[in-house]
Amino acid sequence: MKLFLDTGNVSEIKAANDLGILDGVTTNPSLVAKTGTNHEDLLKEICTIVDGPISAEVLSVTAPEMLKEGRTLAKIHDNIVVKCPLIPEGLKATKQFTSEGIRVNVTLCFSPTQALLAAKAGAWCVSPFIGRLDDVSTEGINLIDQIVTIFHNYDYETQILVASVRHPQHVVDAAMIGGDICTMPFGIFNQLVKHPLTDIGLEKFLADAKNRKL
Ligand code: E4P
Repeated sequence: MKLFLDTGNVSEIKAANDLGILDGVTTNPSLVAKTGTNHEDLLKEICTIVDGPISAEVLSVTAPEMLKEGRTLAKIHDNIVVKCPLIPEGLKATKQFTSEGIRVNVTLCFSPTQALLAAKAGAWCVSPFIGRLDDVSTEGINLIDQIVTIFHNYDYETQILVASVRHPQHVVDAAMIGGDICTMPFGIFNQLVKHPLTDIGLEKFLADAKNRKL
């Protein structure tokens, strides 16, 4: 499973990228607004740090405007993946972008029928938001399970990007079910490596090593 960082924070992206296991980055308008940086400048900077797919979301809500905005974003760098919302206009734009060789991440997916339509439009990936479903008492991970089955049944190449991840168990569940990509905030990315028994074990090995015969 590919691991993406869901942030616009450049320091976090650098730190995660330094580990050598970061596959890409997702941004959204809320995350970009938090940075206080111009959208295009931020994307350019992220592209200099991470050599992998970088999702950049359009703000337009009609297909012609999405196409105009998305083409400009796609010109920033070959690694840019244009993010379109899962609305009818977004599907139209996705189909056109795909025919032009521009990769699309269809975002704000909350149902299996939406995911099916994104795949039919030729999306490079679809982003089901599992945490936001959990927030409304609907088991978000079940949606991933349904989409995995549907895409497998028909050999759709559209990747499932598990989004709105709130804790490491979401990452485990996504990997067990077969999500292709999991995007997460920096805090959760950091938690993935941590285990108290690792720290205790390492401390003991280092202490015992002091008594080794030289
Ligand atoms: C995905 O691309 C979105 O940016 C993100 O995962 C949304 O997560 P949230 O529900 O925590 O805002």
